[in-house]
Amino acid sequence: MDIRYFDDRTALYTAVSEHFQQAVANGATTFGLATGGTMEPLYENLRNSDVDFSTCTSFNLDEYAGIDKNSPHSYYTYMHEQLFNAKPFAASYVPVGDADDVDAEARKYEALLQANKRHIQLLGVGENGHIAFNEPGTSFDSETHVIELTPSTREANARFFSSLDEVPTHAVTMGIASILDADEIILIACGENKRQAMEALVDGNVTVEVPVSILNNHPNVVIYTDLKLPVAVK
Ligand code: GLP
Repeated sequence: MDIRYFDDRTALYTAVSEHFQQAVANGATTFGLATGGTMEPLYENLRNSDVDFSTCTSFNLDEYAGIDKNSPHSYYTYMHEQLFNAKPFAASYVPVGDADDVDAEARKYEALLQANKRHIQLLGVGENGHIAFNEPGTSFDSETHVIELTPSTREANARFFSSLDEVPTHAVTMGIASILDADEIILIACGENKRQAMEALVDGNVTVEVPVSILNNHPNVVIYTDLKLPVAVK
């Protein structure tokens, strides 16, 4: 893993957006995208850049189950506000959280992923080590599926809703195998609340109890972090 430490977040996000722009310049066309507070400064940089995604395709990691795509809380809305309205892609896919049959939606999404290998997969990490919405205990072989969110994840994400009760209980998420299928993974982890998960990652012990630890088994991972991790300071 290539761990890039920045003590300055502005510099960190400049570096990640340059990484993206360089990838597009080098011919990358298929991107896996992520949501969450961590991604907002990146998307702001990309909105303000001259990057052109108009010939590219994007796939989002996940969506809350049972949520209307036009809800202000959906990841569909988040992506349009944060990136797509300013920088449209030729095609952008976000799982349909309120599909009549969400399990069928998950299978359809997985088929799309398998037909469109991602050059780059952007990732954040949950405080409990989840990636996308793959909570601790999720099989490393998992494909896109419906998952029940843990109480800690619902609490961590409640800040985006008016109350905890409004946070959906389930989500449709790329599986861990789906995520690992990308050629390159860019992980961004900022803030002390991510330290425990990141220390478990760099510790090198791969365990389903810390989903992000599976990145140790991917050949091409770049981590942008403002955390001084044990291996980052060696
Ligand atoms: C959600 C998303 C994850 C994201 C995580 C961290 O649970 N499903 O993809 O990595 O939140 O979010 P934040 O960046 O807001 O800390």
